[in-house]
Amino acid sequence: MSEHIRVMFSEEEVNERIAGMAAQISEDFNGQEIVAIGILRGGVYFCSELTKRITVPVILDFIEASSYGCGTQSCGEVRITKDLIEDIAGKNVIVIEDIIDTGRTLSLLLKKLAERNPLSLKLCTLLNKPSRRVVEVPVDYNGFQIPDQFVVGYGMDYAQRYRNLPYIGVVEFE
Ligand code: PRP
Repeated sequence: MSEHIRVMFSEEEVNERIAGMAAQISEDFNGQEIVAIGILRGGVYFCSELTKRITVPVILDFIEASSYGCGTQSCGEVRITKDLIEDIAGKNVIVIEDIIDTGRTLSLLLKKLAERNPLSLKLCTLLNKPSRRVVEVPVDYNGFQIPDQFVVGYGMDYAQRYRNLPYIGVVEFE
């Protein structure tokens, strides 16, 4: 079976939305420094494109996590497979993710990060699929709300391919 990628949001549309999100974050933090945490691997392009448009001082860091103990209904734990370098205690932190689907990964990861006592902890996602949510997560900055379709590009993969597409596409099988 071969697949075809249909454009959902063009590179121009994504860049325009990211610029709007960066302007909002810059306004909200009003000169205060933030620690931007990109979630590997999917969040890497969005994190890069977003942070270079933010005008308040930015400390950049990355974390990689994988959830496990997940049956069809529940999910128990998240394992940090690559941890932060920075100490986030007392800092304004924004977690930057490509997509929130069931919410499992982010709800567990946010709990772990909150235990490190940041001054504030916000969640920013490029894409949000609310129809798939199993666990509620507070989304502070939301790029696009999308239906339940398999999306790739801008960091997102299908069997590790297509992450480097500069637009967001839907995988269609032929
Ligand atoms: C994706 C995405 C989120 C998570 C969202 O990561 O980047 O971290 O899934 O799904 P959830 O809301 O159902 O938890 P993935 O595990 O595919 O890893 P990747 O970022 O390395 O592609």
